[in-house]
Amino acid sequence: MIEKINKLLKQVEEFRPKAVAEVEEFRVKILGRKGELNDILEEFKTVAPELKREFGQKINQLKTAAMNKINALREELENSGNADSEVQIDMSRPGSADEIGSRHPISLVKNEIIDIFGRLGYVVADGPEIEDDWHVFSALNFALEHPARDMQDTFFSEKNPDILLRTHTSSIQVRTMESQKPPIRVVCPGRVFRNEAISARAHCIFHQVEGLYIDENVSFADLKQSILYFAKEMFGEKARIRMRPSYFPFTEPSAEVDVSCNLCGGKGCNVCKHTGWLEIMGCGMVDPNVLEASGIDSKKYSGFAFGMGVERIAMLKYGVKDLRLYFENDVRFLQQFDSVI
Ligand code: DAH
Repeated sequence: MIEKINKLLKQVEEFRPKAVAEVEEFRVKILGRKGELNDILEEFKTVAPELKREFGQKINQLKTAAMNKINALREELENSGNADSEVQIDMSRPGSADEIGSRHPISLVKNEIIDIFGRLGYVVADGPEIEDDWHVFSALNFALEHPARDMQDTFFSEKNPDILLRTHTSSIQVRTMESQKPPIRVVCPGRVFRNEAISARAHCIFHQVEGLYIDENVSFADLKQSILYFAKEMFGEKARIRMRPSYFPFTEPSAEVDVSCNLCGGKGCNVCKHTGWLEIMGCGMVDPNVLEASGIDSKKYSGFAFGMGVERIAMLKYGVKDLRLYFENDVRFLQQFDSVI
């Protein structure tokens, strides 16, 4: 019997549970109604009277040891927050960092364009990608036979040729002029669609930011200064611009804007094809026909508009020349923009 008690004492001493549930199991096994201690007490009844004192003390020792140990363990495990879990947490292990995503370069450049014009008081305007002929072409003074309406460039709905995917964000100009009164100062970012074969230099989906400013006495000089401010903010203080006469149905006069090549500083390299200049956008004074088509009095108001390709600006800023990279979502490409916010 003494041997049995000593064995149990040893068990109590060596007991190392991982969870509270194990402590309870152990308690039932030793102190429970049908537990080991009760078996011993049964046996105790048959012990010779002269040994009772010694055996009784030993049994009490076992009982107190078991109870103390069980209470202490319970408290310890519950306080360590491990009450219900089998696994013990190793507080010394290094933590695992969550991977943080990064913004797409097109979003970065788009946001920067919006920010720059935001500083000049422009607000963002939005419009639908699925448009009608009026907002994309007719209201913008495109003659009926204008080649841009051709099936080559535009994705038309097969069921209704009046419905189409917008080929430029200039459609948002029209929607803004229809719904707001001058003064109007908006930038309109968005996706546009053209029926082009995909290559390093062309894609059937790309992004544009359109700008529109209408008020009394807006002049070409205002347009020029605004674009110069934009070029310096986007490409650096040293950036210069030049304007070449051009044609767009919705502006008169119209111009194409070049910025001095920020890679060679204007000396000439293969990115600027040794001209020292890079084309960045189209612009012009809003044609009076366009103002009138949207219900704005062209005698009282004048305005300018401009439109640029976001991929084109990103290409010049980051030196990424293959357009397809912007659409493939290869993380090795995207991770390079991790540190840019
Ligand atoms: N919509 C023209 C395009 O897609 C870009 C453009 C040129 C927009 C001149 C304008 C503008 O607002 O004035 O090529």
